[in-house]
Amino acid sequence: MSLPLPLPPLGLGTFKSSPGEVTSAVLHAVRSGYRLIDCAAGYQNETEVGAALATLISSNAIKRDELYVSSKLWQTHHAYGGDESRCEAALSATLSDLNLDYLDLLLIHWPFASEQLAVQTEDGTPEPFRLADGSLNPVFTVRTEYLATYRWLLSAKARGVVKAVGVSNFTIEQMEHLREEGLEAPAVNQVEHHPYLQQRALLSYCASRGIRVMAYSPLGSASGKKPAAHGCALLEHAVVLDVSKKLKKTAAQVLVKWALGKGVVPLPKSVSEERIRTNADVDGWELESADVAALDGLECGCRNFRSYAGEGWHGGERWVEKGDDRD
Ligand code: A2P
Repeated sequence: MSLPLPLPPLGLGTFKSSPGEVTSAVLHAVRSGYRLIDCAAGYQNETEVGAALATLISSNAIKRDELYVSSKLWQTHHAYGGDESRCEAALSATLSDLNLDYLDLLLIHWPFASEQLAVQTEDGTPEPFRLADGSLNPVFTVRTEYLATYRWLLSAKARGVVKAVGVSNFTIEQMEHLREEGLEAPAVNQVEHHPYLQQRALLSYCASRGIRVMAYSPLGSASGKKPAAHGCALLEHAVVLDVSKKLKKTAAQVLVKWALGKGVVPLPKSVSEERIRTNADVDGWELESADVAALDGLECGCRNFRSYAGEGWHGGERWVEKGDDRD
């Protein structure tokens, strides 16, 4: 088996890409030069992503070892109660769905485990763990099992069935917890990142430990929140539109370029052929430093996806959600 590729500079996000649209999205992406496809069992479309991968590889449009495919273990796939068979079964299902015999990267999707299948809400977060009155929803038993799960990930890496391992939606404290346990650093932490939510402290922590940050929602999600501080979605913000007009680039290209400048790996999601192509067409031009400064000034701590920083992460079952982590 060949060595893992270096992480490509950007990739295609597939969250919220419907099963009917994601196959063509992946075909367009790879044909227009994307080499990183970011997947997850929780997106419930890996079979359709896998159909595209099989087509591309079997037709020799691309070789397997030229592609970098990442996936994630969903909450129910943690080593819940020490049961690693959940992780094994999830990895087997993902490999089978994606038509692959190894993954380039496997992440823990969220730093908490659920014994039962968590229902996804509109915004994609696995809710409701908490009822309106703030009490824990008795339907779910939520545990912080990521240590056992992470150890299993390392064993999967040792077997070669995943080339690299990482985490997603982990806080600095949770990454520190892995370090305190003497575990090797994750290759990647995938988090929400865009000018409205820059996570500077987390980026600097990751840089200091050689952990690459992958950015989901790099466009702020088109249907994303309109924070009170700005009153509009990121793609419609005057600062973004002004830079876009000045440089004759799309608003999405401006945001992808800004993310690349921060050293993160943006994963813009699209199912549109034209957008997939243009979102990654970011070579041969630069943002001016004044543009970067203006975009940096948009920080407002606005999350599209709720953060579950979680207290009691030393193995407790009680979760305390952390809201705004502006820094
Ligand atoms: P679509 O898939 O129809 O193109 P994010 O990656 O920040 O979550 O954003 C994804 C959202 O942004 C999707 O709704 C996607 O819709 C939309 N999107 C992707 N590329 C562009 C673009 N170039 N211009 C406007 N919206 C875009």
